Amino acid sequence: AEVVIVPDAATAGGLAADEIARLIRRDPGAVLGLATGSTPLAVYDALRSRLVGADVARVRGFALDEYVGLAPAHPQSYRSVITREVVEPLGLDPARVRIPDGSLEGIEHAGEDYERALVDAGGVDLQLLGIGTDGHIGFNEPGSSFASLTRVKTLTMQTREDNARFFDSVDDVPRHCITQGLGTILRARHLVLLAFGEGKAEAVAGAVEGPLTASLPGSAIQLHPHATVIVDDAAASALR
Ligand code: F6R
Repeated sequence: AEVVIVPDAATAGGLAADEIARLIRRDPGAVLGLATGSTPLAVYDALRSRLVGADVARVRGFALDEYVGLAPAHPQSYRSVITREVVEPLGLDPARVRIPDGSLEGIEHAGEDYERALVDAGGVDLQLLGIGTDGHIGFNEPGSSFASLTRVKTLTMQTREDNARFFDSVDDVPRHCITQGLGTILRARHLVLLAFGEGKAEAVAGAVEGPLTASLPGSAIQLHPHATVIVDDAAASALR
């Protein structure tokens, strides 16, 4: 991967946003791979000013993951988060932005349906990624196959604790999710992984320089011919 070390999240967000804005101006029907969590907020923030005057009516988006069993209207469902943080502020067409179906009714077919929708859209042009402190990308927790496709996974206790800040307590964090697989993510044409803060330093080092291992799912990015890693000094601190 190409590693870019920047002083802060705002600079990183600006770089990623520049890349996305260039893509959309080149191809107004571009397919964006969207991430949730805290990390990509800097990108979405910066993207607002970069897209002023751009035609975004045909931009498509696919989220990486969704909690299983959380009502879509729950403020922390990734459907709500993507609507609030991406679709509305950037003026995207909500009908062109897809989130995996985490409802219990749909769960049996949700993975297959999502894979088909991704293929029908022609694949993701640029996939934004964060990384978990346990090395997950998407919600592919340690042990995930590098060939995995969209499917239901169990969140680790580490991830549930990390995400408890979005809920009243860790007990309210769902135990399961539906996530694009590592194989799905690797099919995107450009991966842009961002990470900030000391807490991500080990995961970043493992993903960029460690052995290829399912124990650190982020290491899968080493298999990708066009991966960009944008980190602040703290998240870069364990790189050699
Ligand atoms: C979010 C996702 C996760 C997060 C990761 C880091 O859609 O797939 O992999 O990117 O958990 O989360 P933050 O950015 O909140 O530290």
